Amino acid sequence: MTAAGDAGAGAAAPNEPHSMPVHLRPAKPADIPALVPLLVRLKRLNEEFDPLLRVRDDAESQAREVLKASIADPKAVVLAAEGVGADKDKVVGLVLAVIRERPFYAPSVEGVILEIYLHPMYRRRGVGEFLLKETTAALKAKGAAVVIAEFPAQNEIASRFYAKRGFRPIIVRQARSL
Ligand SMILES: CC(C)(COP(=O)(O)OP(=O)(O)OC[C@H]1O[C@@H](n2cnc3c(N)ncnc32)[C@H](O)[C@@H]1OP(=O)(O)O)[C@@H](O)C(=O)NCCC(=O)NCCS
Repeated sequence: MTAAGDAGAGAAAPNEPHSMPVHLRPAKPADIPALVPLLVRLKRLNEEFDPLLRVRDDAESQAREVLKASIADPKAVVLAAEGVGADKDKVVGLVLAVIRERPFYAPSVEGVILEIYLHPMYRRRGVGEFLLKETTAALKAKGAAVVIAEFPAQNEIASRFYAKRGFRPIIVRQARSL
């Protein structure tokens, strides 16, 4: 599956303000086949933004392994967003976040959102904000007192999405090819 259409998302019509077109729940091992393509699409989108993020040929099997380990990890939050109505039981989004210790800084526990992806048809209707709110609550319940979003610096969708919600750069990672 390619990431075609990802960068130009926003075609969906606005939804009623208080109805959410997704049902969000913790992911189960049985969701892995549906989650893998979403995670790989996210990586392919990042590849479009930055040549240093070239997707490996074995990305699908890596995605399977990462999801399997994360779903089993009590220090991770993996959520699956299902559609509603005609899309009921269809997984249209995913979130993967982890709890990390901060040995030198207070507060000492942070929740890090590593992956957040929504099918293009579901974007720009406030679903991302709902995912962020629910993920933040789940991380807080696991002890996090600060929430961090990790995403490629060139991913403009993510930059805008998080900036709009009060996130700002805290740690910068820079790279060059060797
Ligand atoms: C990030 C994501 C989950 C947000 O979901 P969403 O439902 O679109 O988010 P919301 O409707 O709550 O918020 C929309 C805001 O997100 C940002 N955004 C969403 N799509 C965008 C796009 N194509 N270009 C620029 N900004 C975009 C904007 O700030 C937008 O606000 P605006 O509509 O007022 O401009 C979703 O856009 C997505 O899956 N993107 C692709 C994957 C990705 O980049 N993930 C983050 C890196 S890990």
